[in-house]
Amino acid sequence: MSLLIKNGEIITPDARYVADIWCEGETIARIGQNIEPPAGSEVIDAAGKYVFPGFIDPHTHIYLPFMGTYSRDTYETASKAALVGGTTTFFDMCCPSRAEDPKAGFETWTAQSEGKSACDYSFHMGVTKFDANSEAQLREIVASGVRSFKIFLAYKGAFGIDDSELYRTLKLAKELGVVVCAHCENETLVAERQRELIAAGVTGPEGHYLSRPPEVEAEGVHHLMSFAELTGAKVYIVHLSCVEALREAVAARLRGVDVAVETLIQYLVLDRSYAERGGFEASKFVMSPPLRNASNQAVLWQGLRSGLVQTVATDHAPFDFEGQKPMGKDNFTKIPNGIPSLEERVNLLYTHGVCEGRIDLQTFVAVGSTNAAKKFGLFPRKGAIQPGADADLVVYDPEYRGKLSKAAQTHAVDYNAFEGWEIKGRPSVVTVRGEVAAREGKFAGTVGRGRFLRRDCAV
Ligand code: URP
Ligand code: ZN
Ligand code: ZN
Repeated sequence: MSLLIKNGEIITPDARYVADIWCEGETIARIGQNIEPPAGSEVIDAAGKYVFPGFIDPHTHIYLPFMGTYSRDTYETASKAALVGGTTTFFDMCCPSRAEDPKAGFETWTAQSEGKSACDYSFHMGVTKFDANSEAQLREIVASGVRSFKIFLAYKGAFGIDDSELYRTLKLAKELGVVVCAHCENETLVAERQRELIAAGVTGPEGHYLSRPPEVEAEGVHHLMSFAELTGAKVYIVHLSCVEALREAVAARLRGVDVAVETLIQYLVLDRSYAERGGFEASKFVMSPPLRNASNQAVLWQGLRSGLVQTVATDHAPFDFEGQKPMGKDNFTKIPNGIPSLEERVNLLYTHGVCEGRIDLQTFVAVGSTNAAKKFGLFPRKGAIQPGADADLVVYDPEYRGKLSKAAQTHAVDYNAFEGWEIKGRPSVVTVRGEVAAREGKFAGTVGRGRFLRRDCAV
């Protein structure tokens, strides 16, 4: 297997230049001018196009038993969708129930994924309870190369952990050098407000955002920051949505807390008006934390530009509009949470970020790929274009114009939250470890070739 990508403009967070990339087997072997390919190698003409490192989605739920149902994608459908959209690696949240042991959960996610993904992937290990038994098992899981935890300060009675468990999880993470990813919403406030709203007869999807205002998220972040400060653990706030929460994170960073911040493409391009749509249409836009007032978007974009926000993920949690979202038809607390966007993330970030002048190309690569690779111990194997790195590459056509739609999408869910939206630019060719895996909006790879990525110590 040998592949030459000729004359593309290579973009990484640190460099921007036109060159050829020579890939031998699974890795990048050489970058230079006028590289002549041996007979029989595949040559991709990238003149007039960008070449990015494969994009990384640090937060997905491909397999997720949640709110009485299961997310709709499989590792096959999701990895195909990821690749078509330029994402070559994703991190799925391994989320056992509180009744399950961590090892049982880990084995379930392994069985769901092994031999089924077309792109590479890793897990963040969910800590959904903490006792002596789970601690011993978590140590084994970390030793096997899963160097990040996921905790929920929300979802009372489901994935949520209490404060003793939080403290002990962070102490263990500090000891093991593991990054702790955290969903920050105060679960008690959510539960109390849900109860009040239902009692007042508010049962429709609007109850979801009313029950989770910015203060609920800011309190969750503040809470985590206090625990992180006392334990010295490295933390990563997932799906941060609003200025109030960001202020708490920044204040903690100024106090010396080792905290990184992820936002989602949904918060950058969708606002609360979508969650206010009439009828049950709003249920397509139910996720936690909820979509916020549009004024937050400028702050999040500024956060990306200034480095206060390090990554843009999707929290891809796909639940059908027909059949699954209606589980909460008469009670918003039962609407499965999530807005699928694994396939759309990169193109939306490029269209609304780069094309509209909100971020430059190098920030686009940093927040869409490289920063996640660095944070979670994959760099420079992933998130880089340099000799020795995996040949995960995205040849991106900035001249492409098209529309997002359910009819054209690859992932398995029955709606597209961005139906009819114009995109400017898309991946022309996507490679995974030297093999073409998507071409011009169509999957062209090999299901089962994707590898589980064991990770070294996170930075
Ligand atoms: O609404 C969301 N975010 N759904 C997925 C579960 C989670 O909280 O990450
Ligand atoms: Zn979450
Ligand atoms: Zn999530």
